[in-house]
Amino acid sequence: MHQEQNITHTLNTQPIPMVKPHAEFPLGFLWGGATAANQCEGAWDKDGKGPSIQDVLPRGGFNPRTATPTPDNLKLEGIDFYHRYPEDIALLAEMGFKVFRFSIAWSRIFPHGDETEPNEAGLAFYDRLLDELEKYGIEPLVTISHYETPLHLAEKYNGWVSRKLISFYERYCRVLFERYGHRVKYWLTFNEINSVLHVPFMSGGISTPKGQLTEQQLYQAIHHELVASARATRLARELAPDARIGCMILAMPTYPLTPSPDDALAALHAEQANYMFGDVHVRGAYPGYFMRQLADKGVQLEITEQDRQDLKNTVDFVSFSYYMSTCASGSPARGEREAGNVLGGVSNPHLSASEWGWQIDPVGLRIVLNQYWDRWQKPLFIVENGLGARDELVEANGELTVLDDYRIEYLRAHLLQVREAIADGVQLLGYTTWGCIDMISASTAQMSKRYGFVYVDRSDDGSGTLARYRKMSFDWYRRVIASNGAEL
Ligand code: BG6
Repeated sequence: MHQEQNITHTLNTQPIPMVKPHAEFPLGFLWGGATAANQCEGAWDKDGKGPSIQDVLPRGGFNPRTATPTPDNLKLEGIDFYHRYPEDIALLAEMGFKVFRFSIAWSRIFPHGDETEPNEAGLAFYDRLLDELEKYGIEPLVTISHYETPLHLAEKYNGWVSRKLISFYERYCRVLFERYGHRVKYWLTFNEINSVLHVPFMSGGISTPKGQLTEQQLYQAIHHELVASARATRLARELAPDARIGCMILAMPTYPLTPSPDDALAALHAEQANYMFGDVHVRGAYPGYFMRQLADKGVQLEITEQDRQDLKNTVDFVSFSYYMSTCASGSPARGEREAGNVLGGVSNPHLSASEWGWQIDPVGLRIVLNQYWDRWQKPLFIVENGLGARDELVEANGELTVLDDYRIEYLRAHLLQVREAIADGVQLLGYTTWGCIDMISASTAQMSKRYGFVYVDRSDDGSGTLARYRKMSFDWYRRVIASNGAEL
């Protein structure tokens, strides 16, 4: 018979009360949403900003770059957050946001990236943005580098392939910590740092086309980013002692396509390719499996003694994005390749997919949360999750809105799994949905791939008034936050 009331276990003579797992979000849980400068700000050349690599990616991160910014690049104007942020933050506050994740555009602060003095007008913009957040008591969560390396660094130095970027990035971080360190507690060093494996230009500002990039160059670039990230952590300890520094990983659990041990091993290898980034950030050194992989590839990293010391500056928390899971097979010919969120693998016959082919898997989020917590024992932060979908503006009760029950369904299903993971014992700081207000997509540069609770009137051809409208999900999320996740 099933016994459940007041059960206690005894170990030696001490009774240990058995805590009945209950799925609740902790008090002070940070609910909110996330954005990136290059996808929302627009104003790409205003107030002294230099071009970033995004300004020459009019078709999104999977596509080849152009030589110079072209007017068909929707990111140049974005959703004009640069000028409309007071209206936008007011909408987020209306939903009860506790936290807002945004990135600082590196080339607003250092237009070329290698100057010695920052651009004051760029710094002043983020002062104003922080003022606005403070007005509503919304905690900022700042990504220092979100796919927006200054273009000059890509062209002159080949991005992170060059060791010089470590010191340029460190100088940039110093300026940020000195200026905002007393008002920003949560910082992320690099958005989806592991994505450089797949989109070296967008993620690492690496100009050499992917097909010509050697593994030696790629892994050296990764090493430079990891050292830079650790140096940022060290700098924050010195300049902003109350700050909490996190790494940010693109999470995508990889299941074996079948129970075959070969598939299980292929899945393990795919997981390790991503785990490595967290392992270094949390443990402060390269794991053995990675050194073996490098040896197999014939890659010899240049690692100085100073680098080894720097890497020991480990993070306070681990943050990640989660949209989908994937499968791996030991037999390359087996299974169908799927479309995906930068990474991608073999498609899972048990899952359905979004219109862009991203396989929807709420349980995968619970799995990731458990895996990361078990592995790293660091507080976690889900800093991206959401459904990219086409929305239609309609009239309901005399107002223009979007009836996005599909988005609510997606988010609800994921949050139910988050709640389960919390009951599993995972320590989670917060949850920020991706693109809380519609923005330009990173992978395809479309406006029509929308994630927001707020609809922005702009089309893929660039037309539209940029007016903002509350979607049906707006009120749903407001209630979720007000009930601290009890009402999903
Ligand atoms: C993440 C990125 O990979 O996914 C974001 O950090 C991006 O910048 C998000 O926007 C969603 O991807 P997409 O391509 O649909 O915009």
